[in-house]
Amino acid sequence: MKKLYIETYGCQMNFADSEVVASVLVSQSYLPVSHADEADLILINTCSIRDNAEKRVLARTRELQSLKKQNKNLKIGIIGCMAERMQQELFKKLEGVDLLAGPDSYRNLPQLLAQLDAEERVSDILLSTSETYEDIDPLRFQSNYISAFVSIMRGCNNFCTYCVVPYTRGRERSRPLESILKETLDLQKAGYKEITFLGQNVNSYNYTDEKGKQWRFPDLLAHIAEQIPEMRVRYATSHPKDISEELIDVMAKYSNICNSLHLPIQSGSTVVLEKMNRKYTREDYLKKVEMIKRKIPDMAISTDIIAGFCGETEEDHQMTLSAMKEVDYYYAFMFKYSERPGTLAEKSFDDDIEDDIKGRRLQEIIELQQSLSLEHNKRDLGKTFEVLVEGFSKKSELQLFGRTPQNKVVVFDRGEAKPSEFVKVIIEDCTAATLMGRLV
Ligand code: 5AD
Ligand code: SF4
Repeated sequence: MKKLYIETYGCQMNFADSEVVASVLVSQSYLPVSHADEADLILINTCSIRDNAEKRVLARTRELQSLKKQNKNLKIGIIGCMAERMQQELFKKLEGVDLLAGPDSYRNLPQLLAQLDAEERVSDILLSTSETYEDIDPLRFQSNYISAFVSIMRGCNNFCTYCVVPYTRGRERSRPLESILKETLDLQKAGYKEITFLGQNVNSYNYTDEKGKQWRFPDLLAHIAEQIPEMRVRYATSHPKDISEELIDVMAKYSNICNSLHLPIQSGSTVVLEKMNRKYTREDYLKKVEMIKRKIPDMAISTDIIAGFCGETEEDHQMTLSAMKEVDYYYAFMFKYSERPGTLAEKSFDDDIEDDIKGRRLQEIIELQQSLSLEHNKRDLGKTFEVLVEGFSKKSELQLFGRTPQNKVVVFDRGEAKPSEFVKVIIEDCTAATLMGRLV
């Protein structure tokens, strides 16, 4: 048996893809191992979203290459978005790399590896318009056996001007409902308590079944939530332009669909949003948030924000800060704009905001979010939540941690509770990052 080591960078979709890759290779009698120095095959599943993500992978791969001195048969592959974006350039930059496979080529990995017996270097970076890996049962090799990702669609058609994803992951396509349902029911049988539907753009889900019935995302969500009432359901990511009242009504109707929503705003300025090709204005976005909060008052909303996009003025930046306060995000992923080769922004706009200004704006965004998160958490003091226990707290074996439906982490003294159980916890204290509570 050959030993396989996979290291994953980037988004949740990449982590889900690594489980597909593991499944494909285990069926070819590879054995997953958890240390690179034991492996005969190292695959690095990569992310191109920002320059620093790519730099990290390049440095790490240089480090891993040195393992070839000990093990002459070791093969190293770069898979995922960087393989797709950089192609043969990666072979030039990294002499120890033997294989490249793009996000739609994982089915072909066994053939590529077989080719490596005869050829020095192999690659497959063809994108597909239909691949969803619907018949491959992901091998959950790094799972907590409580919570799992289920991929429902791939690719993106939105072409936000800053974003490399439409180029590295190709066009949108939806996985058949039947295979999503089967995977979900299998997870339930295996004892999982929570699933998160994944896609670059889950709201674009669109599948027509054999009877000619069309399934959009709210239909899928409602159908699955009904089939697995004991399991929690989450999803990510949603494009604000596609959030509909129908979707929020489905979330309100099923108590097992969690009241948390990741809704990337990117910027609070309509001028910047237009330049980003986000297809909504500040007002559109805020109106949707109002609708969401009206229908589901305890919905917790998180976001992604980019600081220092091309031409962003101080006033635009202030608009971002004010939108953050207005929405009252409980959490945010915050980034400095990083120009990506091949994107529309790279071709049409000047990356003209100095790095120190980007840094200062990002810092202001981070500091504001810290205080918003703290205030959000303080409002939970005294409230009781249903918590899905995920494991032992990092600090003490006597404490457990889990998540509320709003996706907030709660730490509490373990009492009789065990991982994988649903328990009720009353919140007694908090920081910006964590709630602390007591079992009731
Ligand atoms: N620079 C900085 N952040 C980016 N993102 C996407 N592309 C870029 C870029 N070029 C951010 C967006 C997106 C998240 C996944 O990454 O906020 O929602
Ligand atoms: Fe990138 Fe925009 Fe597509 Fe998200 S919706 S993956 S930010 S192009």
